[in-house]
Amino acid sequence: IRVLAVASEVYPIVKTGGLADVVGALPAALKQHGVTTRTLVPGYPDVLKALASAETLLNWGEFYGGPTRVLGGTHDGLDLVALDAPHLYARPGNPYVGPDGRDWPDNGIRFAALSRMAAEIGQGAIEGFVPDIVHAHDWQAGLAPAYLHYGEQPRPGTVMTVHNLAYQGQFSPDMLAAFGLPGEAYSLHGVEYYGTISLLKAGLQFADRITTVSPTYAQEIQSDEGGMGLGGLLRERSDVLSGILNGIDIDVWNPATDPDIAARFSAGQIAKRAANKAALQQRFGLDPAPDAMLLGVISRLSWQKGLDLLLENIPTLLGEGIQLALLGSGDRDLQDRYAALARDNPGRIAVVIGYDEALAHLIQAGSDALAVPSRFEPCGLTQLCALRYGAVPIVANVGGLADTVQGFDEAAVTGSAATGVKFAPVTSEALAHGLRTANLLFNDKVTWRRLQQAGMATDVSWHNRAGRYAALYRELAAARG
Ligand code: ADP
Ligand code: GLC
Repeated sequence: IRVLAVASEVYPIVKTGGLADVVGALPAALKQHGVTTRTLVPGYPDVLKALASAETLLNWGEFYGGPTRVLGGTHDGLDLVALDAPHLYARPGNPYVGPDGRDWPDNGIRFAALSRMAAEIGQGAIEGFVPDIVHAHDWQAGLAPAYLHYGEQPRPGTVMTVHNLAYQGQFSPDMLAAFGLPGEAYSLHGVEYYGTISLLKAGLQFADRITTVSPTYAQEIQSDEGGMGLGGLLRERSDVLSGILNGIDIDVWNPATDPDIAARFSAGQIAKRAANKAALQQRFGLDPAPDAMLLGVISRLSWQKGLDLLLENIPTLLGEGIQLALLGSGDRDLQDRYAALARDNPGRIAVVIGYDEALAHLIQAGSDALAVPSRFEPCGLTQLCALRYGAVPIVANVGGLADTVQGFDEAAVTGSAATGVKFAPVTSEALAHGLRTANLLFNDKVTWRRLQQAGMATDVSWHNRAGRYAALYRELAAARG
């Protein structure tokens, strides 16, 4: 089976969130299931730099407003295809917003172009590479299934994966012609979405199969509340919708070999984590207290992540003697409020505002617990890293968090081994209860060690999960003949 994956981010080259991690890790895992993947990404400056010795696969000429080439090359084991269109992508910094922090005004065209090229490659534009499946990730690739639907037949099968339904890629209906869509596409059963064009809806409407990144999220998005305006469509298409959990790259996230942590360890040597905890406390300027529970957070600071609820719980943390080490960036207001709390509570609450991969590894290795109080979470990756590193996840019981952590309370009922603490509903009060429960468990060393060990024994790798994608591709390819 040959797959063309299409996405606007790919780890380790361009990343704003977990989407990049997934797009970067899935191909190697799929290879073990007999699937060959090439990944089409925009030719951002960092992509072109990474593909310095790439070959020109296509000299396309004029494409959505400027001269364009398609480059092919490998990087870090990935087989990449870059859409080199300088008029669209030769812009430094964040892939979506300009230096003023606002969306680039031509984002619609930028990602229509990406999706159109995916459709062209899907139809065999690159000699010797005719994919069986075009796999579109998130709204930036959402038009690819639409173009293939309206284009020549036969065509490859199409899969649309939703990593986050909150980002829908909405543009003015005036863009229909510029996007190269037929007039009939602007309808309820097309790309029309409350008077706009939604690129995500286009993908959900026209893809042969829809997946999202956890079974629970697959259910949640079919409700009116979780569906964020698309619940009706997703209910209608529930026969082709499924949830496949994300994994993590267990070579990048391996406490036994991790170069970014103070002391390497494996499940049999959990006591070695103490050195990482001490290093983390020092790095964050926290009191060197080995017996205080150290709570880590690694997150975008946005409404989705519920970190305002943790802010409201600073008195709980202080009262319980729990230390906080938070690494995050995002909403200005949250950044400022966390920074202020850290100033007011030196040694106990510490915050690094920014994005820092190496520090994320040290937090996973040195925290006793990791908090993920998300209001919704399609899958979530940090709790998977936490399991692998023996940091006990304290999570909201939603989406992929519900599917990947065995809560202490539910484990008692199901008889399976607990790996973390879950709280519900997603409120400040319930989070307070979760934090207190965790601290109680933390102070019972035997129980805590058991939680850590069960977490570290959990399979968070891509292997089996990639197998689900491989099976889906095969089923779809067979169904299309
Ligand atoms: P989302 O994609 O919604 O942000 P995920 O949990 O799926 O959430 O993925 C987030 C990814 O980004 C993880 O790999 C996490 O370690 C990383 N990450 C998030 N914030 C930071 C940060 N401030 N510094 C370093 N890594 C971060
Ligand atoms: C999104 C979601 C996150 C998920 C990631 C990768 O960013 O917010 O839950 O893990 O995509 O699928």
